[in-house]
Amino acid sequence: MTDRLAAHFVRASVLYAIAGMALGIHMAASQDHGQMPTHAHLMLFGWVGMMLYAAFYKLWPGAAEGLLPKIHAAVAHIALIGMIVGLHLIYSGSNPELGDPIAALFSTSLFANMFLFTWIVWRGTRAAAI
Ligand code: HEM
Ligand code: HEM
Repeated sequence: MTDRLAAHFVRASVLYAIAGMALGIHMAASQDHGQMPTHAHLMLFGWVGMMLYAAFYKLWPGAAEGLLPKIHAAVAHIALIGMIVGLHLIYSGSNPELGDPIAALFSTSLFANMFLFTWIVWRGTRAAAI
């Protein structure tokens, strides 16, 4: 059970890497780097961040128990994808008025989710929990 969450994040991480790199290659090929913030957040939160979540749950499998880590995982994906959609709308210039509140809503969710993850980390790495 516990390794399932680590496997889930590692699998998601590589998919975000493919999406982020495809955007990077598109930026390079088109010589339009306007989507740099979208690419940067997709790579660093999607690929690096999700891989770090996977490493955490692999190293502290006990921390993956209960409902909170599942909520954290669900919100992490919804918020990241929402933020990426918002950033894309802003930096493509296609609809910045819509992209702005979307990016604000989902990046705030991502931030709030970090408090939940902080709680999961502190709870799961207490001497008594390991
Ligand atoms: C197929 C691989 C990749 C391609 C083609 C690519 C392409 C690009 C391009 C064209 C830029 C804009 C550079 C500029 O205008 O200054 C950029 C920026 C960036 N890339 Fe990538 N990238 C790739 C992989 C990665 C990976 C693996 C990461 C991180 C794990 C990453 C993180 C970033 C970051 C953080 C920036 C923003 C840098 C800054 O703020 O100056 N990229 N990338
Ligand atoms: C609540 C979440 C976050 C918010 C609201 C946020 C917001 C921002 C903003 C407003 C910028 C400037 C974009 C620009 O105009 O160029 C930026 C750039 C950047 N952020 Fe974030 N960020 C968040 C999370 C993160 C995380 C978790 C990472 C890394 C793991 C990260 C890495 C970067 C990098 C490397 C840049 C420079 C890339 C660029 O200039 O395009 N951010 N971020």
